[in-house]
Amino acid sequence: MKYFLITITAALFTQIVAAQTVPLLHNVYNRNTTSLNGKWHYLIDPTENGYYDYRRVPFDSYDEPPRTNAYFRNAIPKDSTERIEYNFEYAPTMMVPGDWNTQIPELMWYEGNVWYQRSFDYQKHNDALVFLYFGAVNYKADVWVNGKKAGTHIGGFTPFNFDVTDLLQDGENFVVVKVDNTRKKEGVPTVATDWWNYGGITRGVELIEVSDTYIQDYKVQLAKDDNNTIEGYIQLAGKQKEATIALRIPDLKIDEMLTTNSNGRVTFKVKARKLDLWTMEEPNLYKVVLQAAEDMIIDQIGFRNIKVKGDRILLNGKKVFLKGICMHEENPIEGRRNYSKQDATMMLNWVKELNANFIRLAHYPHNEYMARLADEMGILLWEEVPVYWTIDWENEVTLANAQNQLRELIARDKNRASVIIWSVANETPVSEARNEFLKQMVETARAQDDTRLVSAALEVHTEGNKKIMDDPFGAYTDIVSFNQYHGWYGGDRDQFPNLEWEVKYDKPVIVSEWGGGAQYGFHADKETVWSEEFQAYLYEKTLQGLGNIPGYSGTTPWILADFRSPRRPLPIIQDMWNRKGIIGEGGHKKQAFYILQQYYLDK
Ligand code: GCU
Repeated sequence: MKYFLITITAALFTQIVAAQTVPLLHNVYNRNTTSLNGKWHYLIDPTENGYYDYRRVPFDSYDEPPRTNAYFRNAIPKDSTERIEYNFEYAPTMMVPGDWNTQIPELMWYEGNVWYQRSFDYQKHNDALVFLYFGAVNYKADVWVNGKKAGTHIGGFTPFNFDVTDLLQDGENFVVVKVDNTRKKEGVPTVATDWWNYGGITRGVELIEVSDTYIQDYKVQLAKDDNNTIEGYIQLAGKQKEATIALRIPDLKIDEMLTTNSNGRVTFKVKARKLDLWTMEEPNLYKVVLQAAEDMIIDQIGFRNIKVKGDRILLNGKKVFLKGICMHEENPIEGRRNYSKQDATMMLNWVKELNANFIRLAHYPHNEYMARLADEMGILLWEEVPVYWTIDWENEVTLANAQNQLRELIARDKNRASVIIWSVANETPVSEARNEFLKQMVETARAQDDTRLVSAALEVHTEGNKKIMDDPFGAYTDIVSFNQYHGWYGGDRDQFPNLEWEVKYDKPVIVSEWGGGAQYGFHADKETVWSEEFQAYLYEKTLQGLGNIPGYSGTTPWILADFRSPRRPLPIIQDMWNRKGIIGEGGHKKQAFYILQQYYLDK
């Protein structure tokens, strides 16, 4: 009976999320968009008063939701006799995109529901289709346009869009979004995370207008085993299914006329003479033009391949060492979620200054500007979904949610040369249920994109002077990665260079986390914890020993910058910040930054 129930709920999850969010529109920023960014009114609603009646019956299950307090109706009193117990027009405003925690002091710790509303003018163009696109909303979004439900999305870090063509009217319109960032046991992530639970419409909102037959999706990549072939697919949607599409890559003298099938899809392989591969030294991007009837999309795409061979990682057939760093999507100077191109530029410039060539974007999908800018700067990326720590492994709804977030991430970044690794988990306790769950995640990734590598931050254990990596899940990933904190959570820093290592797999190894805390500006001897000297010495000794690990192909120390966490209360030192950054709150570099910078320069 239990299994039957679980299957039903998983189908229900898929039905809720999939039924209402239409397939993701690819390459949004190169389409005809109207930004809805800016000031939105908001109402704080911890009891979901604007969504349920007093019996906890949802107002949107009513035939005629009451004007008095169904917030999504955005009702304005008709005259002085009408009693309406909310009003967005008089409500305060906050900026979208942006987390609510750092915009509204009362919301810094808030976990619950906030309603957003804004009005906008729109002139519909005959037979055009209109989509409402969100870069991300943490964690659950219910969206109404002009009082009618557009859809629901679950997952705090991936984009989604709804077809709102039939909900819009000429002239003034309004959109209402109910955002709920409550942590849940069955969520992805689950209730415990070592990062701040920033809530809100944390990335941009766009209205996207497309012709009634439009290019919904496409993949244009170098063939896996042939550096002179470009292959992929183009997916049409809307009225016409069978149509002719031009695929042009002018600098490669490619100009193909392709015809989609009755499902609107066409796959292709085209020869590319004299193609300059995308490399870290020369991140060549080609202008790719897709032209269907009245819909044209332009993208900038780099062509490279990434493989593993034994215990080596090969970029375009050459062995590469990943000089990396971990990063949260957080601005250490302003202490808020990052979301803009300027934020991405600041973070990636620090990475370049570190002489690094690789970033582990922890622990969830970051905004799209990161991968697009990394494409331009020749920086490699590890992207991951928040299957973090003690996930509800036996819950089918949780698995469907995790798979959906992974699919949405891959759908968004599958044409980005900088992205080389999809990661399906971080530091998850070994169990049969966990292995089964993660196997399904790897299969999901490979089914959607078999051109990139798959990994996960796995578990290593210690026996005396030996560190052993025999996590059973290492059998299913292309790269064996693991976090270890010798010298911080136990172990003696001096001992690290003399540790023995046993890795069960003949695969490349990335040490995906290590490090220690330091308060920027606190100086003492290297034995004094929280001093910059303590952290610097930990970096010095760890870097002396990493080369002893069989298959050592890269590392991403934890972490580029200090970040907020509710798990780090130590007054004066932490004050709700995790201090393992090599850049402190405020953007100041600690001694450890320069030690790692020199190590990468010498590498
Ligand atoms: C873990 C975890 C991180 C966390 C870090 C820490 O490895 O993956 O999310 O912040 O340790 O303890 O600082």
